[in-house]
Order: sequence, then structure tokens, then C-alpha cells
Amino acid sequence: MKITKGRKKDHVDIVLKKGVQYQKGPGFSEVMLVHQALPEADFGKVSLKAKFLGKTLEAPLVIEAMTGGYPEGGKINRKLAEIAEKTGVAMGLGSQRAMVEDPSLKDTYYIRDVAPSVPLIANIGAFQLKKYGIAKIGDMVSKVDADALAVHLNPLQEIIQPEGDRDFSGVVEAIGLACEQLSVPVIAKETGAGIGSKAASLLKEAGVKYIDVAGAGGTSWSAIEYERGGGVPGFADWGIPTVACILADRGILPVIASGGVRSGIDAAKAIALGAELAGAAQPFLLAYSKGKLETEVDTWKEQLKVAMFLTGSKDVQSLRSAKAFVPTGLKELAGQV
Ligand SMILES: Cc1cc2nc3c(=O)[nH]c(=O)nc-3n(C[C@H](O)[C@H](O)[C@H](O)COP(=O)(O)O)c2cc1C
Repeated sequence: MKITKGRKKDHVDIVLKKGVQYQKGPGFSEVMLVHQALPEADFGKVSLKAKFLGKTLEAPLVIEAMTGGYPEGGKINRKLAEIAEKTGVAMGLGSQRAMVEDPSLKDTYYIRDVAPSVPLIANIGAFQLKKYGIAKIGDMVSKVDADALAVHLNPLQEIIQPEGDRDFSGVVEAIGLACEQLSVPVIAKETGAGIGSKAASLLKEAGVKYIDVAGAGGTSWSAIEYERGGGVPGFADWGIPTVACILADRGILPVIASGGVRSGIDAAKAIALGAELAGAAQPFLLAYSKGKLETEVDTWKEQLKVAMFLTGSKDVQSLRSAKAFVPTGLKELAGQV
């Protein structure tokens, strides 16, 4: 238990102090939204509203899963939640493994009192889902009053992590059971190495409702684990770039685009490529640490709105059919992952 709590604190501290980002990009800088000199839209009427998990968002954005399980993590979750409520975006909790192991840690995840209307995503690792079984996980979800459960797939991190779990067999079956038996929808998410079409298809068959691609190009979990003394060097840049994941998975399940999304413009590109929502973790953690989280979310919303106006998209639905140029290399890659 001490190990779980200490590990989470290490992760947050390392991301804040060491950078730990992929060297290769997520692909957004290579994608160009096609400028419309005649937008035929009134900027003041451009609507960012979106539906997610039966609730209405002010913008199609998610503050991705990060923390909980220790006092500072609880403080961070409350601030993220307060700003998500104020700005009208969705939010994910960090892995709730610590809370399953020690129920007294619930308060470091519970945020409903400050964020009653936010679409809230509970979080557990695929390995823990298999280990703890549906009853415990269902209880964990209802204790935080979440609208969905994200099951994170992190085989790369677990392998590099000194104390990682290594037996990922039986994970698809465990996810299938969760989809069948939980009262909330299940989202499958990576943590930065991306979900390709084969995994997306298996997840669809298992009953998953959304894929959060969490592709390569943003925070590198192997880089984080190397900072913690992890083994097997050479994997800091391993993974499928986010843009290729979006293109590969969009026809299979609704996609949440994350992994190296670094502005509202990247978010607009992700949605034009077919994502339902775009999310980020590291930029919002950095903004939190500087006391500028609300400004950061507002800036992203403004960037998204301007990009929508300049592509002639009056709402999120029309942004999905906005023209986006994707270089051949990225398209080819997407066809093969
Ligand atoms: C400090 C930190 C902690 C994270 N903890 C979790 C976690 O507990 N569960 C999870 O599913 N993903 C976790 N992630 C991964 C993010 O949710 C996200 O998938 C990944 O960082 C890619 O997004 P980014 O490039 O915007 O950081 C964490 C990310 C960060 C930065």
C-alpha cells in the first residue's frame, strides 16, 4: 500500500520536475486544418457544446486521469474538479488502486461535492481489474459517483517499472466482464503508447464504449519509470503516435484523443480527424502547479473556438467534417497500426 501511494506521488513530482515527454511528436504539427477565407459563420455564435456520458459539456475537452491516493493528490483532484465544473469540461480520476487497497483514501478521489455536473471518469488498471474482480471495482466506481470507468492499459509502463505487474493474460476477458456487469460504460485507455486498430477491435467486441487512445507524443511513461530507476533501457520513444491512433480507431469506436494534445488547436485537429473529445494530462498539471489552471482551460477553449470559426465550423458536429490535411506518411502509418 505504501508502495502504491509513494509511486503516485513520484509520478506527479517527476512529471512536474523532469519534463519526461516523447522525443517524437504525436503528429498534430504535421496536420493542417484547411483555412476557410469565407467561414460563413458568426464567431459569437460558434458553439463548443458537446454531449458526453449523458451530460452536456461547454467544450469537448477532458482533463485526463492523473492522481489521488495521497494528500497532495487529493488536493490536486479537488482543484481539477473545481475548474472542470467552472469551465464545463470532463475529468478523469487517477488510478484508484490505492483506494481499493485502503478504503480510507476515498476522500483523495471524491470530488462530487465541488463538481456535481462534471462527467467524471473513474480509473483502474487492467491488471487490477483482473485481480480485484467486478464487485470491488463496482464499489470503487460508485463510491466516487463516477459516470464511467476507464480501464487503463499500460503494458509498457508495467514492464519498465521496477515493481511492475507482468501478467497481462486474461485482461480482455476481465474487461468484457466489467462491460457486462458494471452499471456505467467502460472506456479503455492507454497511458501514452497508443491503442491500434487490432486492440480497438478486441475492445469493441468486449463491450467497451469509448477508446481513449492516449497515444505517443506527449508524456512518456517509460521516461518516467527510467527516472524512478526502471530497467530495460531504450523504450522512452516507444508507441503509436496519437494522430495515427485516431485515424486507425475512429471507424471502430468513438475516440477520445489524448497523448501530446498541447493546445485547443491540437484539440480541434483531433476532432476534425474524427475524435469525439480531446484530452490532456501534463499541460493541466503544469498549469495547476503554477496556479493557472482556469486560464489554461479558457485559453484552450478560445483556441478551439477560433480554429472552428476559421474552418467554417459553427459547432462541434460540423468541425468533425472540416477539411484537414494529413500527410501520406501518417495516413500510411494509420493503415498499418
Ligand atoms: C502525473 C500523471 C499521472 C497519471 N496517472 C494516470 C493514472 O493514474 N491512470 C491513467 O489511466 N493514466 C494516467 N496518466 C496518463 C494520462 O491520463 C494520459 O493518458 C497521458 O499522460 C498522455 O497525456 P499527456 O501527453 O497529455 O500527458 C497520468 C499522467 C500524468 C501526467
